[in-house]
Amino acid sequence: MKPLRKAVFPVAGLGTRILPATKAMPKEMLTIVDKPLIQYAVEEAREAGIEQFIFVNGRGKGALEDHFDIGYELEATMTARGKSLAPLEGTRFPPGAVMSVRQQSPLGLGHAVWCARAIVGDEPFAVLLPDDLMVGRPGCLAQMVEAYNKVGGNIVCAQDVPRARTASYGIITPGAQHGALTEVRGLVEKPKPEEAPSTLGIVGRYILQPGIMPILETIGKGAGGEIQLTDGMAALIGKQPFHAVTFDGDRHDCGDAKGFVIANLALALARDDVGPAVRAHLESIA
Ligand code: G1P
Repeated sequence: MKPLRKAVFPVAGLGTRILPATKAMPKEMLTIVDKPLIQYAVEEAREAGIEQFIFVNGRGKGALEDHFDIGYELEATMTARGKSLAPLEGTRFPPGAVMSVRQQSPLGLGHAVWCARAIVGDEPFAVLLPDDLMVGRPGCLAQMVEAYNKVGGNIVCAQDVPRARTASYGIITPGAQHGALTEVRGLVEKPKPEEAPSTLGIVGRYILQPGIMPILETIGKGAGGEIQLTDGMAALIGKQPFHAVTFDGDRHDCGDAKGFVIANLALALARDDVGPAVRAHLESIA
């Protein structure tokens, strides 16, 4: 079994659910407390042993690449002033560890992943959707890697979702369950509540085998007229092992303003430095 070294971050989205914030600024660069959203996903991947970070980027979102480059002027100035570079720790990577490809048109998540095929090559790879901010110890991808090392194949992260919300998720037809690990018998993208095979939803973390790439190339459009990763994965079921790992932790959907504010509050309250002041203020206005 090949070890998991590569991760794909689909970041070409326009962020239309959080306008006007995202008009000139990548959604993934908006901050949760004092770190951009993308850095949480990248740090989670690094914790899980990922060595190659592949951004599937889009036009006007170069700030994402700059964030993980050397901030030469910034660092020189900080050093000259005797300031610690520790706050930049999570943004620094060895040469060549972070790379980008462009998704030229917004044709769907499956298409975005397929755009990374040349860099992924013949290796298993993770996909992390930065909108889904996963808070847990160990981190979400690390929990999935632990399962991957036992069962191999393909793994999605799963959480129970309200039945009324199934049309926002890929939904799993579950098979045998052993603790946090559930066998995946089927997958359907964004079914209506009355048609959903369960309420076990996919959240934005995947470990996939490279054999999905040729499938994504030919699969055609699915739900919402987009090339869906879920449809590509569904075609692998029965041919390769396929499991879901129920994440032990909290998920914040930072794709809209409500989820974004809640994530900011939750992560701020959990911090020793800013938490007490934020809590005191919330109590004073509640
Ligand atoms: C995507 C996937 C969906 C998954 C969801 C998790 O949907 O297509 O299967 O459940 O992410 O956040 P999106 O939220 O991009 O519409």
